[in-house]
Amino acid sequence: MKAIIVTPGTPNSARLEEIPDPSIDDVPYGRGVLVKILRVGLDGTDKEINAGQYGTTPEGSDYLVLGHESFGVVREVGPSVTELAPGDHVVARVRRAGSSLYDRIDMPDFTTDATYFEHGISRVHGFLTEFYVEEPRYLIKIPQSLKEVGVLLEPTSVVEKGISQAYEVQRRLKVWQPGRAAVLGAGTIGVLATMALRNRGLEVVTAGLQEPPYLNSELVEAIGARYVSTERTPLPRIAETFGQFDIVFEATGFSPLIFEALCVLLGKNGVMVLSSVTGGSRRVEVASDALNLDFVLGNKAMVGTVNANREHFEAGVRDLAIAEAEYPGWLRRLLTHPVHGLDQWEKAFELLGAPGVIKVFVEVAG
Ligand code: BGC
Ligand code: ZN
Repeated sequence: MKAIIVTPGTPNSARLEEIPDPSIDDVPYGRGVLVKILRVGLDGTDKEINAGQYGTTPEGSDYLVLGHESFGVVREVGPSVTELAPGDHVVARVRRAGSSLYDRIDMPDFTTDATYFEHGISRVHGFLTEFYVEEPRYLIKIPQSLKEVGVLLEPTSVVEKGISQAYEVQRRLKVWQPGRAAVLGAGTIGVLATMALRNRGLEVVTAGLQEPPYLNSELVEAIGARYVSTERTPLPRIAETFGQFDIVFEATGFSPLIFEALCVLLGKNGVMVLSSVTGGSRRVEVASDALNLDFVLGNKAMVGTVNANREHFEAGVRDLAIAEAEYPGWLRRLLTHPVHGLDQWEKAFELLGAPGVIKVFVEVAG
């Protein structure tokens, strides 16, 4: 079958090649599920991997199949699979279990192992190909009504984990009732975080670089959140205008912003969620005494979040269903740039990060 593969560590190594077909017997005890891939979304992680800055091959392989945002349809199930049936639509979880305690209780997103296993990213092949075989526990069933937007589930799961972490941390407060959230960044993750927080009834202010109006600011405002441009309204002005926030969700990819946001945007007892995977080497000077004092006197918390496990994918399905019911057609507007067929992969990479682009995805099969 065809696949988009890379040689991790080598810049611009992406290429279309033939790789062996998977077999349903790759999973033992008749527990294999053969999935035909329909769509695969791309993001900054894929771009970094193709730039040679990130990514690891599976053991025994000299290449890595790219792609971690999948959507597909079950073709065949092994004799011992009861959870899924041919014709079901599914999204695969990205991370697979390693060996730490957390991996053993199906929370590989919290692994303490030195290495981690992620489809299309680290040590496991990805989904920019035609078929894959997986165990049922790594597959999430997508309702028929979400077929058109199912490819958004993986980035949504990342958002869901971040938000659930904020709520977990805030159990320390016994009576936490968040009313206001700020989302920093208005890319796919920022827009989806805005959606998930609006679904929970919060007032949301979403900050992006670009001046409104443009698609992302319109999407944010269409679901009752406020969009502000940080070019025109720097963080202190945001706090002056809207007050401080119970939750700040950081998804800009620009790490220097977090220090300012902590002092200026985050209210007393607030929690800030950091979700950007920043591969760079930026350094900034910070007012450390003031920052520390503000954190201590304000009982503030900050939590990092990566990846997602089954419960976050399932929360993502519920939030996508709520969004589809509450704002019909809204999710589809995020799917701005379909690219038809695996052989058009170069076009998909060119589109990543270009103006007007929210989600680039490859339509692998119809
Ligand atoms: C993926 C996550 C993954 C993270 C770190 C993101 O692009 O969506 O699933 O855990 O990269 O590799
Ligand atoms: Zn990703």
